[in-house]
Amino acid sequence: MSDVQKIDTDRQNLKERLSELNIDNQKLSEIKDRFRKAISDGLSNNGPKSSLKMLPTYVRDTPDGSEEGEFLALDLGGTNFRVLRIQINKNGRGILMDNQVYKMPAEVMTGTGEELFDYIAESIANFLEIYDMKSVKLPLGFTFSFPCVQNGLDKGTLLRWTKGFSASGVVGEDVVRLLQEAVARMNEEYQLQVVALVNDTVGTMMSCGHEDHDCALGMIVGTGTNACYMESMQNIDKIAEDEDLNAEGQMCINTEWGAFGEQGELDDIITEFDREVDRNSINPGCMLYEKMISGMYLGEVVRNVLVDLVKSGDMLNGKLSEKLNSKGEFETAFVTQVELDRTPSLRVAAQIFRHLGYDSPDLKMPPIPGLRTDHVCTLADRQALREVCETVSRRAAHLCASGVAALLERILLNRRASGAQTDRNMTVGVDGTVFKKHPNFRRLMETKVRELLPPDARITFRMSHDGSGKGAALVTAVACRMAEKNDILKSCRLSL
Ligand code: GLC
Repeated sequence: MSDVQKIDTDRQNLKERLSELNIDNQKLSEIKDRFRKAISDGLSNNGPKSSLKMLPTYVRDTPDGSEEGEFLALDLGGTNFRVLRIQINKNGRGILMDNQVYKMPAEVMTGTGEELFDYIAESIANFLEIYDMKSVKLPLGFTFSFPCVQNGLDKGTLLRWTKGFSASGVVGEDVVRLLQEAVARMNEEYQLQVVALVNDTVGTMMSCGHEDHDCALGMIVGTGTNACYMESMQNIDKIAEDEDLNAEGQMCINTEWGAFGEQGELDDIITEFDREVDRNSINPGCMLYEKMISGMYLGEVVRNVLVDLVKSGDMLNGKLSEKLNSKGEFETAFVTQVELDRTPSLRVAAQIFRHLGYDSPDLKMPPIPGLRTDHVCTLADRQALREVCETVSRRAAHLCASGVAALLERILLNRRASGAQTDRNMTVGVDGTVFKKHPNFRRLMETKVRELLPPDARITFRMSHDGSGKGAALVTAVACRMAEKNDILKSCRLSL
C-alpha cells in the first residue's frame, strides 16, 4: 500500500471508530426525554427510583437588588479552597471582593474528614489574620460543591463525595457541624456564623440572577458538572411535610445531574472508552453523565480513544508510549489547547505528543533537555488527535445540551401549569472552566439546546462571574434580608 493510500485508509478507519461518539438529534431528544422523566421521578416521593437526587436547597428567592452588607464566603469544590470577603452594595452599585486561594493537597482531599476540616479552619484563620478580622463575626455563605441533603439553609448532610474527594467520616454527616467543630478545635481563635450552605450551581444562578432577573437555571461545566433551577413548591414532595415552610412559590432544586445514567439511562450511548474511565475512577458506576462531560474526565476519555487507535494500528504507527498508556497523562487542558491551535502543521498537538513521548520530525523542533521521545508522529497523527478531541468535546457539549433542554422544558411546563407567562425569557447562568475556556463547547451546546427546544422558546445564556464566591454571599444576603424581615436573625446586623 502506498503512503497516500495508507493515510486514506487510516482516516476512514478513524471516522468509523469515532462514529460511536457522535450522537444524532433523535438520540439526544430521547435522552432529553429520559432526563425529564428522571426529573419528575426524583421530585416525587413514591415514583420509580431516579438517578437524579433533586435536592431542595432552601433557597426561595433570587436577589432583588436591595441586598447589601459585608459577608464571608468559603468555596470548597475542587483543587483549591478559597476564602472571600465580599462587600455588596445596594441597587447594583457593585460588589467588592478580597480573596485568598489555598491549594487543596491531594492527601487532604483523600485523608480523614478531620484533617480536611482542620485544613479549612486553618486556612480561614490565615485569611482572618491577613485581613485583621479575627474578632469580626460576619455572616458566612459556605459553597460546598458536593451533593448534600439539606433540611434547612444552614445545614446539609453529605450524600457522597464526587470529583476525586474521598475524605473519610464525612459522608452522612452535617458538613456545617464538621466545620464548626474544626473551628472550635482551633481554641476559639475566631468564630463563624454560617448562614447558608450553597452548592456552586446555586451560587451561579444567584450571581447571574443579581444582574438578570430572568435567570431560571444555574449550571456548572468545570471539574464536575451539575445544574439547579427554580421549581414550584407544590411539586417537591420531599419538603411537603415541612410545616414551617410556606407551600406557595418556588424553591431552587439542586439536580445533581452528574449522576444521570446510574439507572441505565445512558446505556445505549456509553462506549468502552467511558467504561474504562469509570472502572479506573474512585467511584465506579457513579456519576456517569459527569464522566462523559466534565473537565475531570474529558482528557481521560480522549486518552482511551487514542490508546485504542494506537493498539489497532490506526495511529502513531501502532507504537504505544509509556506515558500515553498511563492514566491522567492526557490533561483536559490539552483538549482545549489542541482545538485552539490554528497553525497548519498543528504545532500544539506536536508539543503535546512530544510530552507523551512522540517527536514530530517534520517540524524540526529544538530538543528539550531531559525529555525523551522514543517514537515519532506525523501530521496525519496530529490531525487524528485533533479529530478525536473535537469528537469527544462535541459529544460532551451535546449531552450537556440535552440536560439543559430537559430542564428548560420543565420550567416551561411549570409556567404553563401555574398560568405564568410562557413566552418570558429563560436565562441560563453558566460557570466552569470547560464552558469558559474550551473554544467550541459554548457554541455547540447553545446551538443544540435551541435545536432540541421549540423554535419560539426564548433562551439566553449568560456567563456567570464567580458564582461560588459572589453567589454564596448573595444567598447569605438574601437569607439575612428575609430573616431581618421576619425578625429572626437580628445578629446578621445588615445595614438595611
Ligand atoms: C459535582 C458535585 C456537584 C457540583 C458539580 C460542579 O457534580 O457533585 O455538587 O455542583 O460537581 O462543581
